[in-house]
Amino acid sequence: MPRIYLSPPHLSGHELEYLQDAVESNWIAPLGPQVDALEQELAGLIGVPNALALSSGTAALHLALVVLGIGHGAEVACSSFTFSASANPVVYAGASPVFVDADATTWTMDPGLLEQALAERPSIRAVVAVDLYGQCCDYDRIRELCATRGVTLIQDAAESLGAAHGDEPAGGQGDLAAFSFNGNKVITTSGGGMLVSRDAERIEHARKLSTQARDIAPHYEHTEIGFNYRLSNLLAAVGRAQLAVLPERVAARRRVNGRYRELLADTPGISFMPEAPYGRGNCWLTCIVVDPDEAGTDRERIRLALEAEDVESRPLWKPMHLQPVFASAPTYGGEVSAQLFECGLCLPSGSALMDGDQRRVVEILLATRA
Ligand SMILES: Cc1ncc(COP(=O)(O)O)c(C=O)c1O
Repeated sequence: MPRIYLSPPHLSGHELEYLQDAVESNWIAPLGPQVDALEQELAGLIGVPNALALSSGTAALHLALVVLGIGHGAEVACSSFTFSASANPVVYAGASPVFVDADATTWTMDPGLLEQALAERPSIRAVVAVDLYGQCCDYDRIRELCATRGVTLIQDAAESLGAAHGDEPAGGQGDLAAFSFNGNKVITTSGGGMLVSRDAERIEHARKLSTQARDIAPHYEHTEIGFNYRLSNLLAAVGRAQLAVLPERVAARRRVNGRYRELLADTPGISFMPEAPYGRGNCWLTCIVVDPDEAGTDRERIRLALEAEDVESRPLWKPMHLQPVFASAPTYGGEVSAQLFECGLCLPSGSALMDGDQRRVVEILLATRA
C-alpha cells in the first residue's frame, strides 16, 4: 500500500497549461507575467491591494521586518507555538525574539500574555502573530494592543491561506502578512511565498529589496543591502493553477477534519484543536491531543504505530521557548504550548486523502489502546 503522507501536494490538473504559457513566453526568470498575475489574483482574494511574490514565506517574514527598520537592539514578540521559520527572520534581521505562549482555547498567541510583554518591554517594536495550523489569532484584541503601544503587527499567515477572521479572509488582519506556498501547504508552488499589505510603500520597498535593492540607474547602483528573494515565473504559473482551486482545497481539508471528529467522537481521551469562535480555520492539519490516562494510549505510541504502517504523522510544533537555539530568549507563559507539544499529534490531512485511507489511520490509532 502506498505511504499516506501528512500533507502532500494536490495538483489541480491545470498546472501544465499555465507552465506551458510561461515556457512559451520565455519568461524563465524570477519575474514575468505569471508572477504579476499571481500577485494580483492573491491580492484580490485576500482583499489587500498590494502583494509581492517571493521565494518563500520565510523571505516574506524577513522582508517585513527589514522594511519596518527592525534590527539590532529591537525586540520582536513572536508566538512560541509555531514552526521555527516564524522566529528565525527576527534573528536574520539582527533583532531578538521574545516568545509569547498560546491561549489554551485557540492555541494561538495569548493576548493577555502579549499585553504583559508589551507593558514590560519597551524594546518590542513588532509582533509576529502566527495563524496556527490554519486558525487565525484573536486579532481584534491583538490589533488593539499593538495600536495602543504603537508596535507593528506582522501576521504569519503561512498556514492560514483560505481561512477567515470574522467575515474577512486571513491575511488582512496584520499591517503586513506573509503566506507560504511550501509543498506541504493548502496550495503550493513547491516553494514560494507572498508578502501582502495595505501599505503600498512598504510593499514597493520590499519589492526593491527582494531583487538586490537595485536603484534606478542604467548600471547597477545600490544604496542599501538587498536580497535575492523573488519567485520564479515558472513557479508562479503553478501557483495560479493552485490558487484557482483554493476554495475546494479548504473545503476538502475541513471535510477531512470533520470525518476525524466523527470517527473519534466516542473515543475517550482524544480531543481536537478547538475552532475559535471569531473565525473559520482552513484545517490545514488536523491536530489531536491524547490524554494517556483516559485514552489508554499516548501520542508517541500512536505515532510509531502509524509509522510502522507507513502512515506519516507528526508531533505538534515544539514551542520555540523549548528549542535549544532560543534557550536564552525571554518567554511569557509557556506551559500551554509545552503541554500541547507533549500530547499532541498532527494526523494525515491532505485534501486528496481518501475515505478508506482515513479510516485506516483511525483503525491503527484505535488499535494502540491498551
Ligand atoms: C507558521 C509558519 N511560518 C513560516 C513558514 C515558512 O514558510 P516557507 O516554508 O515558505 O519559508 C511556515 C512553513 O513552512 C510556517 O508553517
